[in-house]
Amino acid sequence: MKVVIVGAGNVATVLGRLIRDNGHTIVQVVSRAADNAAILAKELNCAFTDNSGIIDQSADLYLIAVTDTAMSQLDERYHLGDKLVVHTAGSVSKEALKNITNNYGVLYPLQSLRKQNMELQQDIPLLIDGNTDAALQTIRQFAVTISSNVTPADDDQRLKLHVAAVLVSNFTNHLYALAADYCDKEGADFKLLLPLIEETALRLRHYPPHEMRTGPAVRKDIKTLQKHLNLLARYPAIHNIYLKITDSIMNN
Ligand SMILES: NC(=O)c1ccc[n+]([C@@H]2O[C@H](COP(=O)([O-])OP(=O)(O)OC[C@H]3O[C@@H](n4cnc5c(N)ncnc54)[C@H](OP(=O)(O)O)[C@@H]3O)[C@@H](O)[C@H]2O)c1
Repeated sequence: MKVVIVGAGNVATVLGRLIRDNGHTIVQVVSRAADNAAILAKELNCAFTDNSGIIDQSADLYLIAVTDTAMSQLDERYHLGDKLVVHTAGSVSKEALKNITNNYGVLYPLQSLRKQNMELQQDIPLLIDGNTDAALQTIRQFAVTISSNVTPADDDQRLKLHVAAVLVSNFTNHLYALAADYCDKEGADFKLLLPLIEETALRLRHYPPHEMRTGPAVRKDIKTLQKHLNLLARYPAIHNIYLKITDSIMNN
């Protein structure tokens, strides 16, 4: 397929590479900041513009990967007739595209993506949706060329999975960041925790998370919990989260 990518951030870059590597032709990158558009266009070997008024009209698919807030201003800038347009957001309805084209849908990567050349360990799960059966069919045909993990999901299902994704990815990563900072300040080596982090995540391939719970809160070990809280008195943010999660574990 011939593809135009709108946006030049993390998702535009990672999906752009996948699209290019799987035999499609990227004809143009359109993005707000010309220098970011130029960097991605150079990597993908295509044209670029920061002017939405001169978007290439020859593509089969328009992939919109801009921030959720920018999406609400799209219809002032783009009018693509019957062209197939998809966005990549978890919590934005596909209907956000209805004033741009008659043919639209979603290609949502259910994965945390960073444009820094991080190697992907596995195919990106893609949740797809379309405003008609024909649009969904074409989006599926495209999606399976870049991932072996493609699942249809409507706006409601995608929104719910996005909430769960925030819990399992964004929140846990925030806890890693707090722990890394704490280790740094206390002279402990955060890297010693990496096997524990990996083992905890890998177990979920075989067991449900609630069966894998361990630690002082599950054991209702008040003595150890108190020791930890005493130590965290100098770290109010971590102290607060420790209390809240302990309470949640003890009462669920
Ligand atoms: N990153 C992820 O892990 C991930 C995973 C799944 C889905 N998503 C979704 O994919 C979409 C893009 O996310 P991202 O991570 O690629 O974001 P990002 O790295 O922050 O890039 C955002 C892009 O949007 C453009 N933009 C920002 N404000 C704009 C505006 N007012 N008008 C026009 N363009 C604007 C930026 O242009 P400039 O270059 O000019 O700043 C940039 O190209 C979002 O809907 C996000 O929820 C992200």
